[in-house]
Amino acid sequence: MTTADTSTTSQVTVVTHPLVQHKLGLLRDVTTTTQMFRQLVNELTLLLTYEATKDLADEEIEIETPLEWTRGRRISGKKVAVCPILRAGVGMLDAVLSLVPGARVGFIGLFRDEETLQPVEYYVKLPGDIADRDVILLDPMLATGNSTAAAIETVQRVGATSVRLIALIAAPEGIARVHRDHPEVPIVVAAIDRELNDIGYILPGLGDAGDRLYGTK
Ligand code: URA
Repeated sequence: MTTADTSTTSQVTVVTHPLVQHKLGLLRDVTTTTQMFRQLVNELTLLLTYEATKDLADEEIEIETPLEWTRGRRISGKKVAVCPILRAGVGMLDAVLSLVPGARVGFIGLFRDEETLQPVEYYVKLPGDIADRDVILLDPMLATGNSTAAAIETVQRVGATSVRLIALIAAPEGIARVHRDHPEVPIVVAAIDRELNDIGYILPGLGDAGDRLYGTK
């Protein structure tokens, strides 16, 4: 992608590439089937991962082709840990693993306490060496930002120092919330939507990403 395919403000990159925007439009469409929704989430995540990993460290290497020696490059920095936030983030996992097959996977499950409205961890299983890895958090909808901020704190608590987030759609409120406490975390999205409604859904959004991925409604 060229820089014309993205628009970056501080740590937020919106991927404006026509393929991404076309697929996002299909994803939002209420008539899109569960099967197609899942496929579109996968394809969009592939394209966003390309952008989100563009600063991974690499180094020059010598390569012997069948004809002669040449120079190439290989990724040389930290290894990757990819951590979907349950449940909808799991729909994005395979796409990242197909591009970064050696990545380790961590899972972070959070629910919202209906009294305090704060996220509560109910399941966390992370790679033991996550402190030495570049962490990619996955959450299709960056809505209030409370669960993303909590997930960042979860991985930081066990030593992660390099954390980035891939989301499909963000609300301005969610970006502000995450960057209030974690201004260093890069966020890559396909769109920043208008606002949250009064029950925390993104408008215009795409509805409940988990329900649409798994056909639970
Ligand atoms: N989670 C979703 O699945 N959709 C939203 O709009 C907000 C949070």
